[in-house]
Amino acid sequence: MIYLNPPHQTGKELEYVKEALQSNYIAPVGPFLERFENSVKEYTKAPHALALNSATAGLHLALRVLGVKERDKVGVSNFTFIASVSPILYQKATPIFIDCDDSWQMDLNLLEEALKKERLKAVIITHIYGGCCDIKEAKSLCQKYGAHLIEDSAESLGTLFENRHTGTYADFGVYSFNGNKILTTGGGGVLVGNDGELMREAKKLSTQAKEEGYEWYEHHTYGYNYRLSNILAAIGTAQMEVIEERVKKKREIFGWYNQFLEAGFMPQIEGCRSNRWLTAAIFEKNPLDIHKKLKRHSIESRPLWKPMDMQPAFKGAKCYSQGVGEKLFEKGLCLPSGTQLEKEDVEYICSLI
Ligand SMILES: Cc1ncc(COP(=O)(O)O)c(C=O)c1O
Repeated sequence: MIYLNPPHQTGKELEYVKEALQSNYIAPVGPFLERFENSVKEYTKAPHALALNSATAGLHLALRVLGVKERDKVGVSNFTFIASVSPILYQKATPIFIDCDDSWQMDLNLLEEALKKERLKAVIITHIYGGCCDIKEAKSLCQKYGAHLIEDSAESLGTLFENRHTGTYADFGVYSFNGNKILTTGGGGVLVGNDGELMREAKKLSTQAKEEGYEWYEHHTYGYNYRLSNILAAIGTAQMEVIEERVKKKREIFGWYNQFLEAGFMPQIEGCRSNRWLTAAIFEKNPLDIHKKLKRHSIESRPLWKPMDMQPAFKGAKCYSQGVGEKLFEKGLCLPSGTQLEKEDVEYICSLI
């Protein structure tokens, strides 16, 4: 079976997990949490990092510490995975969807239209499939209209815009370490941010909102059980050591698909160094036929994200769109992009398509 994006161990995970077990730090506290967070900070140059049990938790904490609450409106990518949106609902706020343009990333003209009309409290932008939008422009638009900005960089660890890491431009960014991402802790995420005070608040909320300075558990608000375990942080520490190697391999795989396949590959905007997390493309043929054929040959592929405004879960929600996401969904497919793939594998997959 060729999977879409299976985990890829480095060989160091077992050593670090053993160290974590031997130290008996097998709870969500311990030295590997700091090592893992430091490695993310060092790599991305984010001033603060918080290791969590998912990127979804990171988005939720970001909204919570930014004060997003019931009846607030939050702009969010329409062409994305539902985890970009769910945390808005956890806060009982209202998602306002903003579709993508031909770059497959959020359409910033539509973003400005939404900012003008909707009084958005915050905006969550997804950098889709490891690409990125012009996040500098998005940031200046959000500043102009007084909206907080959060980057959903779940898929884009290692992606640079103008030589700076995606996730580090906005108030907050999240990276996912879910099993299918460029790196994995099995399941996990990291929240990064620029404001030390807000990040301390996020950390407190991630561990059940225990106030410091008391012998007993003192709570001035409610929190969550969102912290990553030290054992999974040990896996993450090993994985972070090879991030640039993995980006290089992903980009190589993308190059092979380009060589062997005629298709409309996801573009990369000027100034973006994409991590090419998933090679995704649109086809003349029906992508579901390609998907089914690959499946018959034990090869996993996946249709592009079905836009949120097309999902029954969000029936009636407001969406700023020119229908680009819908067209991508109808025509596109994500192709196997695991970093263990060799050139012959990609050539074989392309021959079947
Ligand atoms: C765009 C996007 N946002 C958020 C997430 C959620 O990440 P996690 O699974 O770590 O919560 C994912 C992937 O799972 C994703 O692809």
